[in-house]
Amino acid sequence: MPKILFRAADGTDRMVEASVGLSVMEVAIASGIDEILGECGGNLTCATCHVYIEDRDRLGGLPPFSDDEDEMLEGVSCERRPSSRLSCQISITGESEGLIVLLPESQF
Ligand code: FES
Repeated sequence: MPKILFRAADGTDRMVEASVGLSVMEVAIASGIDEILGECGGNLTCATCHVYIEDRDRLGGLPPFSDDEDEMLEGVSCERRPSSRLSCQISITGESEGLIVLLPESQF
């Protein structure tokens, strides 16, 4: 099972095991990562699963975001960066080992 790292805005790291096939949002919820809310359950209607994927190689390896994700990212509460993604749209794969997910300070 790949391990991925959630890094909070204060620098706190939490390494969790992530089941292949789940989204990063689902892994966060199941792992008690409170900074990710995922209020719409992954239906691209809330943007409360905003994260930053700062590793350029990793970011480039992810599927490009859809027009709907792009639109939702316009409404995130914390600054949108080039590395911003909605974690419900990122699936865990066998290549996810070592993925570092930076958490914004808030989702509201
Ligand atoms: S969980 Fe709502 S947009 Fe990702």
